Amino acid sequence: MNSTKTVGMKAFRADILHLLGDPGETLNHETSEQIEFIQDGLLVVKDGLVSEVGPADALINTLPADCEITEYPNQLIIPGMIDTHVHYPQSDMIASYGEQLLTWLETYTFPTENQFSDHAHARDVAGFFLNELLRNGTTTALVFGTVHPESVDAFFEEAQQRNLRMIAGKVLMDRNCPEYLQDTPETAYEDSKKLIEKWHGKDRLLYAVTPRFAPTSSNEQLAKAGQLLEEYPDVYMHTHVAENTDEVAWVRELFPESRSYLDVYHQHKLLKPRSVLAHCIHLDDEDKQCMAETGSAAAFCPTSNLFIGSGLFDYEDLNKHDVRVGLGTDVGGGTSFSLLETSSEAYKVTQMLGKKLSAFQALYLATLSGAKALYLDDKIGNFAVGKEADFAVLDFAGTPLIERRISNCKGLHEKLFSLIMLGDDRAISATYVLGELAHEKHNMVNYW
Ligand code: GUN
Ligand code: ZN
Repeated sequence: MNSTKTVGMKAFRADILHLLGDPGETLNHETSEQIEFIQDGLLVVKDGLVSEVGPADALINTLPADCEITEYPNQLIIPGMIDTHVHYPQSDMIASYGEQLLTWLETYTFPTENQFSDHAHARDVAGFFLNELLRNGTTTALVFGTVHPESVDAFFEEAQQRNLRMIAGKVLMDRNCPEYLQDTPETAYEDSKKLIEKWHGKDRLLYAVTPRFAPTSSNEQLAKAGQLLEEYPDVYMHTHVAENTDEVAWVRELFPESRSYLDVYHQHKLLKPRSVLAHCIHLDDEDKQCMAETGSAAAFCPTSNLFIGSGLFDYEDLNKHDVRVGLGTDVGGGTSFSLLETSSEAYKVTQMLGKKLSAFQALYLATLSGAKALYLDDKIGNFAVGKEADFAVLDFAGTPLIERRISNCKGLHEKLFSLIMLGDDRAISATYVLGELAHEKHNMVNYW
């Protein structure tokens, strides 16, 4: 098993791009203070943390003589990407045909999740899932388990072995789902408490109290979730909200006393800093203001929202309301583990609303904005000195088509935009965790 910290100094030489804040709509990195691009840069890592970042010609002579330097000519180092909403148990049912949310859950999701009472099965899927994230340049994720505590143990065991910064939790659901997947308010509370005590803050792992969505929890269970958050104020809250119009209508019937779907969570004291709500498509202005005021974050999951026909997330509007926003793949409702592909779909959703999403905004969403949504921007999200050195190396020759398109590009924005629109796992040369190699594309035979 790897140790948590990696001792020693090492350096990585390539072009380097990271965000220092929201880049806004600019397409010109040279005039933005929020975009740092270093052509032929050096990222210096000490004991797994960023110790310096800057131009290679200025820094290289300052390194100790025995410092190992890894070079990636004509490639681009970016911070490890952050997936703010994903279900690891749904890896095996990704791309299931023909249903929208409520029938999709009944037909495909619940039967698949039933298998996760088996710890060995859960570990097998968790290992596959984490390797898939690493192949796609994702180094942190906020992850749904299933209702079974074993599913969360299995996930954290695999994440701990890979030294990853991961957040996960046991699903709470005590009604409106098959009996074989139901817990109770009491077991939900007791099982979550045990998992928090066991895993929250262990190495790089963090816990999220995870009510599936309002329809599958009773008022009593949501109250227990609120109690857990009061007892453990620095754990996360992770759920879904306002994804699908039938779901919204159902919540109105189930909770007639609430002003809105979001208000169900607010009334149960579930909205606070470190609360992350996936989808947020059918919210009104009062809801958006409530998200901002409570410090809650929205996960923008475009491949899922298109695939299960849910609707269009309005990034510009949520941003205008000062709501924290991250990107989510939402596998298996989502159809890709790649946050590059997810960004490409985010661009298309934004186009459908008659708005734009630049490549710099997309990279911000996939890195620093995700870190802010998770209140982890003191640890990950860019290469500020002292942050954890999780990063991905993007390959501008990742596929023949990307290489050809890039050869026609002028300027950084056009290059990055083409790579994001055309890229997926094949555009990730390598992924590093705490400065240690965790995935390398060219070690795979007949990879593409
Ligand atoms: N709402 C409740 N459960 C789920 C789920 O598993 N996936 C998605 N996309 N939405 C949900
Ligand atoms: Zn989801």
